[in-house]
Formats: sequence, structure tokens, C-alpha cells
Amino acid sequence: MSDRQLDDKSYNDFRTFLEQQCGIVLGENKQYLVKSRLAPLMTTFKIDSLASLVTKTLSPAERQLRAAVIDAMTTNETLWFRDDYPFELLKNKILPDLAQRKTPLKIWSAASSSGQEPYSIAMAVQEYQQANPRAFSMGVQIVGTDISTTMLEHCKYGHYDSLALSRGLSDERKRKFFEPSDNGMWKIKDSVKKMVSFRQLNLLNSYSLMGRFDLVFCRNVLIYFSPEIKTKILSQISGVLNNNCYLFLGASESLSGLNQDFNMIRCNPGIVYQKK
Ligand SMILES: C[S@@+](CC[C@H](N)C(=O)[O-])C[C@H]1O[C@@H](n2cnc3c(N)ncnc32)[C@H](O)[C@@H]1O
Repeated sequence: MSDRQLDDKSYNDFRTFLEQQCGIVLGENKQYLVKSRLAPLMTTFKIDSLASLVTKTLSPAERQLRAAVIDAMTTNETLWFRDDYPFELLKNKILPDLAQRKTPLKIWSAASSSGQEPYSIAMAVQEYQQANPRAFSMGVQIVGTDISTTMLEHCKYGHYDSLALSRGLSDERKRKFFEPSDNGMWKIKDSVKKMVSFRQLNLLNSYSLMGRFDLVFCRNVLIYFSPEIKTKILSQISGVLNNNCYLFLGASESLSGLNQDFNMIRCNPGIVYQKK
């Protein structure tokens, strides 16, 4: 076996490990994905074969390696104002509704990746407040969480290159919400940055320290999980949402057959779920 090969047993043990640790379900024939994602870690951790890297990963004592492996196996694809409709609905339907409650606004971006989602939410809220200066005078709190510590560092740093900015961000918003930084990078302005805090959370774990929310974005992460894990996560999300408050899933995700705590509101375009 070459140093980049994985036998069936190691592969299957690794699949079980990954699903137990972070919910991600790997298909039966995704050895190539494991190889391409984990091979770079062989150098970092000075391990000479993929099979021994996988064996070491299964040992609970290898905390650092386990975290790096989970980090490497997550897919962090994201962009600004992804799919547009959640942010249009936010400004035209959800924020006007929530503004009537005269309570602090609390929003959770539950798989924040490199920050584009929570910062897009903050920009949309700021634009709404500019048009409606008395809205949410009690304060706005946006929380971004992710399992990946590398992604969370990226979020907290708040610097993006031109390629990342070109994905979903209009020139107008770029001028309004970013300023040039070193080496051709762009830095998110403090007025947006200070609206968002970040912390690590594995969606499989308890949400008891998260508090309660008026709106949750849990987008493009449930697709990686089994129906059982999706059901558990959706029930926990329902538990932290205030009554009549809102949930966005990704454009290809749905609650169907998984949870009955929500009414589905079909908008044109898009769907938002409202807790009963
Ligand atoms: C494809 S990105 C989605 C980002 C953003 N929500 C969007 O729609 O653009 C998926 C994110 O989910 C995170 N993730 C995967 N498994 C997770 C888990 N068990 N708990 C928390 N975050 C997880 C990954 O680290 C990754 O950043």
C-alpha cells in the first residue's frame, strides 16, 4: 500500500469517526476526498502514511490532530448575500415584523464559515436601520458559530481578498462596508464588525449556552448530515427560537419529514419557516 492509500477498514472507521464527531456523512466511495483533504496534514503532523494518520485520528488523546482533521473535512464554500432572497425577505418582511416587538434583535448564523453570512446579515440590518432610524433601538446582536476554528479566526479577522469580495457583493456595498487594507486585502468596517460576535459550536452538541433568538440562519450545512442528525439539530434550533420567529435553511434544504414546529411561508422567491 502506498503512503496515500487507505484500506477499506481504515476508511470505514474514519467514516464512523467523522459522523460521530461532526455529523458529516461520507459516501462509500469517497476515499479520493479523504486523501485530497488529509494528505496535506501528513506533512504538518509528520505522519508518513494516510493509514497511520487515520489510525492516530481515531485516538481520543490526539486532540489537536482530530480538530485539524475535522477542519480539513468540512466544506466552507460561502459567499456574500448567498441566494439574495433571504436578505430581501429580511429587509422587507422579517425586520419590519420583528421591529414592532421593541425588544433587542438577536440573530444566529449557525454555520458561519468565513463570515460572509453573518456579515451580510449585519449589513442588511444596518441598511434597514438607516432607512428606519428608530428600529431596534434596544440593540442588535448577531452571533456566528462554526465547528471550524480556522474559519472562526478568519471571521474574527474580517479581511477578504478581491476574489472573495467579488462573490456576491455589489460595488456599492463594497464601498460602503469595506476599506482597503494591506496587500490588496479589504477590511470590513468596524461599524459592521462590532455587530457580530463569533464562537465555536458543534451543531451536534448542546445549545444551552446560546440564549434565545428571533432569527436563525442554518444554511447549507444540514445537507452533510443524516436524517436523524438533521432532526436532532432542527429540534434544538426550535428550542432556542422565540415563538413566531424565523428560520432560514439553504435553498436546497427543507424541513419536510424532519420537524413540525414551524409553518412554511412560501415567498416569491424563497421559503422561510416561522415557529408556531
Ligand atoms: C458550506 S458552509 C455554509 C456557510 C454558510 N452558512 C452559507 O450558507 O454560505 C458549511 C459550514 O458548516 C460548518 N460545519 C460543518 N459541520 C458542522 C457542525 N457539526 N457544527 C457546526 N458547523 C459545522 C463547516 O465548518 C462550514 O463552515
